[in-house]
Amino acid sequence: VRLEDWLLSETQADFVPRDVYRDRDVHDAELRLIFDRTWQFACIANEVSAPGDYLNVTIGDQPVVVVRGKDLALRAFINACTHRGALVTDHRKGNCGSTMKCMYHAWAFDLTGRLVGVPYPDAYGPEFDKTDHALAQVRCSEFGDLVFVAIDPLIDDLVTYLGEFGPRLFDYVDGIEAIGRNAWIYEGNWKLWHENFRDNYHPEFTHRWIHDVMARYADRGGNWACRPGHSVLQWVDVEPDFLRYTANLERKGGIHVPVAGLPQAEQRLPPELIWEVLASFPNVDYQPTPLLALGDVPSGLNKTGFIQTVTPLGVDRARVELIVYSQKGESADDRRWSLRHLADGQGSWGKVSGDDTEAAERVQTGLRGRSTDVNLFSRGRAPGDGGADVNPRDEYSQREFYRVYREYLRAPRGGR
Ligand code: FES
Ligand SMILES: [Fe+2]
Repeated sequence: VRLEDWLLSETQADFVPRDVYRDRDVHDAELRLIFDRTWQFACIANEVSAPGDYLNVTIGDQPVVVVRGKDLALRAFINACTHRGALVTDHRKGNCGSTMKCMYHAWAFDLTGRLVGVPYPDAYGPEFDKTDHALAQVRCSEFGDLVFVAIDPLIDDLVTYLGEFGPRLFDYVDGIEAIGRNAWIYEGNWKLWHENFRDNYHPEFTHRWIHDVMARYADRGGNWACRPGHSVLQWVDVEPDFLRYTANLERKGGIHVPVAGLPQAEQRLPPELIWEVLASFPNVDYQPTPLLALGDVPSGLNKTGFIQTVTPLGVDRARVELIVYSQKGESADDRRWSLRHLADGQGSWGKVSGDDTEAAERVQTGLRGRSTDVNLFSRGRAPGDGGADVNPRDEYSQREFYRVYREYLRAPRGGR
């Protein structure tokens, strides 16, 4: 299969040429045509809450700083000094006071990006005008408590970008605050990580722990494409036997659920309990965790979970950033519980993330082999199947990802 033919084809992507995971030209095109032209998750609003608070993020290969202004508005800039290009903020995050001052020759920019300080300016001559040297601003937009940035000024606004996916996401991410971050690097293409969070075919095999606690967890639910490019993976009624579930949770997961102390009505999993993993194009997944909230969290159910982004570092290397969140105003005890249990499963050392990291690295290594030249994403796509009847292990959402992926790679800059 020639990569060019696949990219130009208009039909749904039942398969993906393996060159998309190993071709350097594809990688370069992804940075400019996808990462520059999509809304990219940067942080949760409370991570930059006071005037002068900033956070550095990398969008594709672009250094971006998100900063809270004196007017409390959030703004984002390419983090590159207009003098000779050095980063203008130190460290990962912090508070810069009223200016971002470059460490190299001390040019200083205010919180709206204007150049306000130049040491010994006279040598530049009378024509020198500080207003010509402001930081390059990029778009910054909030959705619930999430903060997104976009490098390309011409793309659709964030709500249009999220489309039908937006309302599915909103309740999960409104009223939350970040309580911790963790990042790690794996030796594999960035898309392997993102695909994995649209993939409901692997968990019972890859994650023995999930299988042990809820053996039939993927029998009911769905795996839907949410146009354009997003997805919702859902599990319903994961374990009819609550006592078996809590016993397994304790034995295999170390999570104690004080069943005896619960009111009778709560000594079972609500049958309508819905557990979802959502993903937005091209590189974010959202994992609210209602099941964990049934454990020994001191004050009961809350909004807690984590969000992951993946950033390419080449064709066969990528960085995962994981942000654990909780409901705003939660007690210190609840927060400790959320951090302990979420970080236990996910994160560079997590039970679940460790399995997925292993899978991504094995895939990337195998992909070097010159054997079959495509990866298959055809589950749930019998001939003539329109996609109405979705099985949780089907692959509609991965196909939607690659449909939109090809649209981006085909479209000339600025005109999608
Ligand atoms: S590079 Fe920033 S002041 Fe010179
Ligand atoms: Fe997984």
